[in-house]
Amino acid sequence: MSKIKIAIIGYGNLGKSIETGLLQSDDMELFGVFTRRDPKTLETTTKGVSVYHLDEVENLKDRIDVAILCGGSMSDLPVQGPLIASLMNTVDGYDNHALINEYFNHMDEASKKAQKLSVVASGWDPGMFSINRILAEAILPVGETYTFWGEGVSQGHSDAIRRVSGVKHAVQYTVPIKSAIDAVKNGDMPTLSVKDKHKRICYVVAETGADLTKIEHDIKTMPNYFEPYETKVHFISHDELLKNHQGLPHGGLVIRYGQTGLNNEHHQMIQYQLKLDSNPDFTARVLLAYARAAYRLNKEGASGAKTIADIAPAYLINLSAEEIRKKLI
Ligand SMILES: NC(=O)c1ccc[n+]([C@@H]2O[C@H](COP(=O)([O-])OP(=O)(O)OC[C@H]3O[C@@H](n4cnc5c(N)ncnc54)[C@H](OP(=O)(O)O)[C@@H]3O)[C@@H](O)[C@H]2O)c1
Repeated sequence: MSKIKIAIIGYGNLGKSIETGLLQSDDMELFGVFTRRDPKTLETTTKGVSVYHLDEVENLKDRIDVAILCGGSMSDLPVQGPLIASLMNTVDGYDNHALINEYFNHMDEASKKAQKLSVVASGWDPGMFSINRILAEAILPVGETYTFWGEGVSQGHSDAIRRVSGVKHAVQYTVPIKSAIDAVKNGDMPTLSVKDKHKRICYVVAETGADLTKIEHDIKTMPNYFEPYETKVHFISHDELLKNHQGLPHGGLVIRYGQTGLNNEHHQMIQYQLKLDSNPDFTARVLLAYARAAYRLNKEGASGAKTIADIAPAYLINLSAEEIRKKLI
């Protein structure tokens, strides 16, 4: 059987992890990497990978089954997403939670016109955490859901800081507030706003001569990303960044506390936890599973944008329905 041909659009952390993630996917193969940079300047992790300029993607669209969009959510995906979705099936990890509906509508319009399918806002949050929140609230309608992230590097927030004028490089750690986790685990069902649950710690390498006060202000007041949180900005040297902030660990926790029984006397808890040594590797594995789903659904005639809430789990795994019933049900 022929393999699903995957294109990587954008070669950053996530793009590289899709490349290596494909080595674990027997039913898929890498068609090539597309970049806005000069393709000759890109050094891929594995040998023999075809690298194209993004401008070439339209000419090659009929040879690609699914494009995995690996650009940044803040300014790459809003432009690249609808463009690529008008040509082929796509999957992305768009993670600007506040603007997901807006992005979804643009992707839906583009992919419906092209009769292709786009999986939007996949990954782990949004993504696996979203599925777990949906399942938990469907099962325990009376209760409270809590999501904690970290401690770890948020690629989306790091990317957002790197786009602030005067910033050369940056890493952002999302740090859960321990007292809030303890209160939730005690079953206190506290009312917590986003800023009660997390702090954001930023390590920034500024351009020579940049206005540090302005950079700090621009970061702290960035809507949705930083504005509601307690945010600390530390300016460091490039050497310190390379020495102490190179890894991309992350993780988090979704907890649902629910009550059942005639008088809500029974306390039930659902917990889903991720401890990730490499955020991009894990995100890539999720996007690859949804690339399989996008390919299969489109083959069945489905088109338009979908989130992971719309896709049945059987489409994700490289097993027949019979094998799933035998091994996993
Ligand atoms: N949903 C989730 O759970 C989840 C989890 C993790 C990440 N994400 C999303 O994934 C997005 C991508 O994350 P990322 O860490 O892969 O971002 P990144 O490394 O900053 O890459 C973003 C884009 O920047 C360009 N780029 C990368 N390295 C470059 C370099 N050395 N010089 C010039 N340009 C470079 C690449 O495009 P070109 O090749 O075209 O230049 C790449 O597509 C994030 O914005 C986040 O929204 C989602």
